[in-house]
Amino acid sequence: MTHSLTLRRPDDWHLHLRDGAMLQGVLPETARHFARAIIMPNLVPPVVTGAQASAYRDRILAALPAGAAFEPLMTLYLTETTDAADVAAAHASGLVKAVKLYPAGATTNSHGGVHDVDKVMPVLEKMAEIGLPLCVHGEVTTPEVDIFDREAVFIDTVLDPLRRRLPGLRVVMEHITTQDGVDYALSGGPDLAATITTHHLIINRNHILVGGIKPHYYCLPVAKRERHRLALRAAATSGAGRFFLGTDSAPHVDAAKEQACGCAGCFTATNTMPLLAHVFEEDTALDRLEAFTSLNGPAFYRLPANDSQLRLVKHDTPQIWPEKIYTEAGPVTVFNPDYPVHWAVEA
Ligand code: NCD
Ligand code: ZN
Repeated sequence: MTHSLTLRRPDDWHLHLRDGAMLQGVLPETARHFARAIIMPNLVPPVVTGAQASAYRDRILAALPAGAAFEPLMTLYLTETTDAADVAAAHASGLVKAVKLYPAGATTNSHGGVHDVDKVMPVLEKMAEIGLPLCVHGEVTTPEVDIFDREAVFIDTVLDPLRRRLPGLRVVMEHITTQDGVDYALSGGPDLAATITTHHLIINRNHILVGGIKPHYYCLPVAKRERHRLALRAAATSGAGRFFLGTDSAPHVDAAKEQACGCAGCFTATNTMPLLAHVFEEDTALDRLEAFTSLNGPAFYRLPANDSQLRLVKHDTPQIWPEKIYTEAGPVTVFNPDYPVHWAVEA
């Protein structure tokens, strides 16, 4: 039996493209299926100013395969010295669609992030005034807090106080991984949304640790217990407008993942759409996949949904995709759910 499903073309509301040879190697994987993506600014050095975002956007466009229609939606990396006027100008010109808050030290290339929210209040106040969303990496970095509790503690001690202090601020809780994240997202009004990754709908912490350590399942925020994965599944497949796809596809070369101190990040750009079709079908929610991948995100970001379409087909036989993407920077392993997937994007 062959099923098929035609969706408005999806967007990815949280993506790492990197730069140079890695950008060149991974960009086609996203541009093949997605019309737009929110591009994370955690380069080395980070994308802090409007001028840096503009130059990075030019490098992304230059790296696009001929004929590809893909629009990078740029973000700025918030620092304690970010200039509110520069942020406002980058937004007014249409270049920048969000600002990213990384608590200092929370994840890959986040040492330049924010230690003290008080120091960035002038920028956040300006963002609230102009309606520019803040994308939040929601984990505390306090060494005493267990890594599996860092999201819940962040919500209680940082995010909720901030939102009470600045009620007009539009916030995206990035890559939520817990029931607590789902509950908090649901507790807010129209100015609060949350992205969910593909891999957090598929793996729990056992997948990382049972039977040997699996570096390609290690990302931040780290996958949690099964009950949290099920809460994310229920949220994503509910169709609720405040939840949408942000893959957090985060390429690292295999040598950087498969070592004594491996980097965090799962690379899902290549197979996200087939994996999501599988997940949503399992939860009898295929009719809500389009809301999650193609409608809820643009609505929150106040952008039109895409006009073009993407067709997914369910085949009788398991579908295959490359095990690795061979970039000039080195091989990048594609996320493998470790079960057969019959869905594919029709070329
Ligand atoms: C991301 C990366 O590699 O840049 N890694 C990850 O595990 N998600 C950073 C991030 O989004 O936390
Ligand atoms: Zn990320």
